[in-house]
Amino acid sequence: MDSLDILTKSAEETKKLGEKLACEIMIEVGLLSLKKTALVVSLEGELGAGKTTFTQGFAKGLGIKENPRSPTFVIMRAYEIKNSDRFANFIHIDAYRIASKDMKTLGWDEFSKKPGNIILIEWGNRIKNILPKKSLIISFGHIGHKDKRLIRICQYE
Ligand SMILES: Nc1ncnc2c1ncn2[C@@H]1O[C@H](COP(=O)(O)OP(=O)(O)OP(=O)(O)O)[C@@H](O)[C@H]1O
Ligand SMILES: [Mg+2]
Repeated sequence: MDSLDILTKSAEETKKLGEKLACEIMIEVGLLSLKKTALVVSLEGELGAGKTTFTQGFAKGLGIKENPRSPTFVIMRAYEIKNSDRFANFIHIDAYRIASKDMKTLGWDEFSKKPGNIILIEWGNRIKNILPKKSLIISFGHIGHKDKRLIRICQYE
């Protein structure tokens, strides 16, 4: 499996990485074979590893004005993507306290198939059995220093 490792040295750098990835996705994904399904990104790594920080940059890269906070207590938040012909909604999920069957109850089968949706799931590893095979996996790890994180981007399959 191909993977890309990035070392960030501050929360700001992690945000920038999220922003950059979102911009790449906006430009490139129209060319990929994802036309019949949503784009799903699973964010993995322990508490405080940087998943929400990354998500904030990612939302900015999609042109979303609000700053996503951790959706832990609401599980899921949706934002409208206004400046794209290809994507309509950004959906931020926190799967820390839920199981796959709860996602099904929330309508996962429907919204994970809509090609206009970009879905980022914190703790996506907790609902791995329902993630599409083409999901992107981004893992966040502490590496000794309080402001450094090792971020690995790869594809599920
Ligand atoms: N290089 C870095 N990248 C990301 N966050 C960093 C970095 N250095 C320090 N931080 C800090 O680490 C914390 C990361 O918190 P964040 O809420 O993004 O983590 P999380 O993975 O979403 O945690 P949780 O599992 O509780 O949702 C923030 O306080 C942030 O400022
Ligand atoms: Mg979080």
